[in-house]
Amino acid sequence: MRLIRLIYASRVTTPMGTGDMVRMMHAASEFNRGQGITGMLAFDQASFLQSLEGGAQAVNSLYHRIARDPRHQRMTLLCCGEVVEREFADWSMTSLDICGTNSSARVGALRRCHGMARFEPSLLRAESALCLLSALSDEVLPACLDASLESDAIARAA
Ligand SMILES: Cc1cc2nc3c(=O)[nH]c(=O)nc-3n(C[C@H](O)[C@H](O)[C@H](O)COP(=O)(O)O)c2cc1C
Repeated sequence: MRLIRLIYASRVTTPMGTGDMVRMMHAASEFNRGQGITGMLAFDQASFLQSLEGGAQAVNSLYHRIARDPRHQRMTLLCCGEVVEREFADWSMTSLDICGTNSSARVGALRRCHGMARFEPSLLRAESALCLLSALSDEVLPACLDASLESDAIARAA
C-alpha cells in the first residue's frame, strides 16, 4: 500500500467544549481505525493542526469529509506526500489541547519547531508542522488520561 501523510491547519469556527471534543475524537478514532488511518490533532481555542496518515485514497476522502465540517474553516494544506513509515502509528487519532497540562514542555516544543511561543499552525512549514506534532505527541498520554476520565464522566452523566 502507498502510504501518505497529509497535514493541514484550520481555524476554529466556534470553540468546542471538552465533552464535544472527546465525543468527536471517539467517533474519529473509530472511523479511522476502520480505514487504517493514524494521526494526531493539536488544537487550542482558535486553531487546529492535524496529521492524517494512511492509504492515499482513504486519507484523501477523509480530508474532503473533514473539510466539509462546519466546526472549522480556512483550511491550509501544509503538506501531502508519500512517506515510508507512520509517525503516529500508535494512534488511530489522538488529540492534544495545546492549552492543557505541562506548559513548559509545550512552550519548548513551540519555540523549537515553530520559532514562537504562540500556536499559529497555518504559518508552519511542512517539516515544522510534523516536528511540532511529534514533539507534542510526547504529551499525549497524560492528556489521554484526562480525556478518558472526562468520557467516563460523560458516560456516568448520560
Ligand atoms: C478538526 C477536525 C478534525 C477531524 N478529524 C476527524 C478524523 O480524523 N476522522 C473522522 O472520522 N472525523 C474527523 N472529524 C469529524 C469529521 O469532520 C466528520 O464530522 C465526521 O467524519 C462525520 O462525517 P459525516 O458527518 O460526513 O458523517 C474531524 C472534525 C474536525 C473539525
